[in-house]
Amino acid sequence: MSLFVILGLLVCIQAQGIIVTPVFVLKGRDLLLKFDADLPEGVLFVDWKINKTVTLVRFLPSGKQNVHKDFTGRLEFPEKNSVTLKNPQEADSGVYTAEVVTETTTGDKQLAEYKVTVQGPVSPVELIVDRVDSNSSESCDLHVTCRTHNSHINSTFRCVNRVCSQEGGERSEVTTSGASLQVYLLNSTIICNHSNQVHWTQNFNTTEHFCPEHPGPVLSALLLRTVVVSVGLIIMVSAVITVHLVDFKKHQ
Ligand SMILES: *[C@@H]1O[C@H](CO)[C@@H](O)[C@H](O)[C@H]1NC(C)=O
Ligand SMILES: *[C@@H]1O[C@H](CO)[C@@H](O)[C@H](O)[C@H]1NC(C)=O
Repeated sequence: MSLFVILGLLVCIQAQGIIVTPVFVLKGRDLLLKFDADLPEGVLFVDWKINKTVTLVRFLPSGKQNVHKDFTGRLEFPEKNSVTLKNPQEADSGVYTAEVVTETTTGDKQLAEYKVTVQGPVSPVELIVDRVDSNSSESCDLHVTCRTHNSHINSTFRCVNRVCSQEGGERSEVTTSGASLQVYLLNSTIICNHSNQVHWTQNFNTTEHFCPEHPGPVLSALLLRTVVVSVGLIIMVSAVITVHLVDFKKHQ
């Protein structure tokens, strides 16, 4: 099923002749867009457009650029066929295309297409240990909450003789701002992670800190048996010695 969807997508892209490149950029970090295609003969101009409607900038063959009035001061042209959008904000997200118009062909020919998503940094997270249940000596349950400002996940970790596992496996959730919040176990560390495509925050804690090693029941049974056997042996040996001593004294 998904293979057909992917094939369908590929066909669409091929039919248009260009590849749509997804770009994720952190809010405020300058965004460079460029194309490598060779320009055809008789170029009248090359446009960079947003959502195929707003012309961000028009490059004329003379080398002059006409920048849209809303973008004055926000564009730079570091090299040929490229444009840098300074200090992008979430509202600048959209489809950016480079199109060429020539004397001979009618209509525009696309040179490059980027699907730009500007994302803010994600908020910090906090891993809270709500409760530790350790009533039996061999197991220990850790109830935790992985929390960020608009979302949280609860999860339980069970440690038996220091080997921990997460009940129900790794847990994750998509927050209202489209980022991903996850809580999972890596070796004996519980990790609470908040991330989008361009930024992440983390908070973690080690299970050993809350579930220190106890002598397990197997160990204590073994210990008890050793003690009983040793005491028994001592009593037997003492008895034998006493009997011999008494015997020895009688015969003197
Ligand atoms: C482009 O279109 C998308 C989806 O329609 C919209 O969310 C976005 O704000 C538009 N971008 C600009 C810069 O107008
Ligand atoms: C987790 O443990 C494995 C094997 O004990 C080790 O190879 C790996 O580096 C550890 N990972 C981290 C992130 O500590």
